[in-house]
Amino acid sequence: MVTAESPPVPRHVAVIMDGNGRWARERGLPRAAGHRAGAEAVRESIQGCRDLGIEFLTVYAFSSENWARPKSEIKALMSLLEKFLKDKANELMDWDVRLQAIGRLHDLPESCQNQLHETIEKTSGNKGLTLILALSYGGREEIIDGVKSVLDAVRNGHIDEAMITPEVFSQHLYTRYFPDPDLLIRTSGEMRLSNFLLWQISYAELVVLKKNWPDFRAADLAECVDEYASRHRRFGKL
Ligand code: IPE
Ligand code: IPE
Ligand code: MG
Repeated sequence: MVTAESPPVPRHVAVIMDGNGRWARERGLPRAAGHRAGAEAVRESIQGCRDLGIEFLTVYAFSSENWARPKSEIKALMSLLEKFLKDKANELMDWDVRLQAIGRLHDLPESCQNQLHETIEKTSGNKGLTLILALSYGGREEIIDGVKSVLDAVRNGHIDEAMITPEVFSQHLYTRYFPDPDLLIRTSGEMRLSNFLLWQISYAELVVLKKNWPDFRAADLAECVDEYASRHRRFGKL
C-alpha cells in the first residue's frame, strides 16, 4: 500500500555492495577481478537512479573493518578506487552527477585522497544525482566522531547541552548534508548491516538480494524500488 509517508520512489537509496569475492570465486578468478566487475556495476546503479529520479545514492565501498583484509587486497581496492575516480570523472560530468564521500577519508592513501577531492571539486556544480561513496566508513566511528563534534560545540558555547536532540546530533554526522536513506539494499544474501549508517537507517526499508554485487543491474534496482513502493512505512504510527 502506498501512503503519503511512502512515495513510490525513494529520495535516497543506500547500498551494501557485497559479494565481489564470491562472484570471482564462482568464475575461478582472483578476488581483484570481482572488485573490478563490482566497480562497473556502480555505473549501472547510477544509471538506474537517474532513470528513476532518485536524488541520492550512497554506496558502501570500503568499511572501517575492511582494513583488516590482506594488504594485497587493500592495495588492489585502493588502486581500483583511484582509477574509478579518475576514469569516471568525465562520465559523472556528462550525467550531471555530483560526487560526495563519507568516512574517515584521511585514512586513505594520499593519492586516493587527492583524486577523490579533485573529482568531488570537479562535479560540485552538478545538479542531478548525488553519489556518496562510503570510504573507510564505519557507523560506530561516525557516531563517535559526531559525539566529539557535539562536545566541541557545547564546550565552545555554540549550543547548550539541553539543545541536543536527534535532529541536532544528525547535524554532527558525516551525512549532515543528506536526507536519511529511505531504502537500504544489500546484495549477496547476507542479512546484516556490517556497521553501515547505523544512525541514519533507523527507519529505512530493507531489501536483501541473493545476487552478488557485480551482477547487479539497473533492472534489479527498479525491482527493489517496486518492493519499496509496496511497503507501508508506519514510522511507529497506526
Ligand atoms: C564487497 O565484496 C566489496 C568490499 C567489501 C570491498 P566482498 O569483497 O566482501 O565479497 P565477498 O563478500 O567476499 O564475496
Ligand atoms: C560490507 O561488506 C562492507 C562493504 C560492502 C564495503 P563486508 O563483506 O565487509 O561485510 P561482512 O564482513 O560480510 O560483514
Ligand atoms: Mg563481503
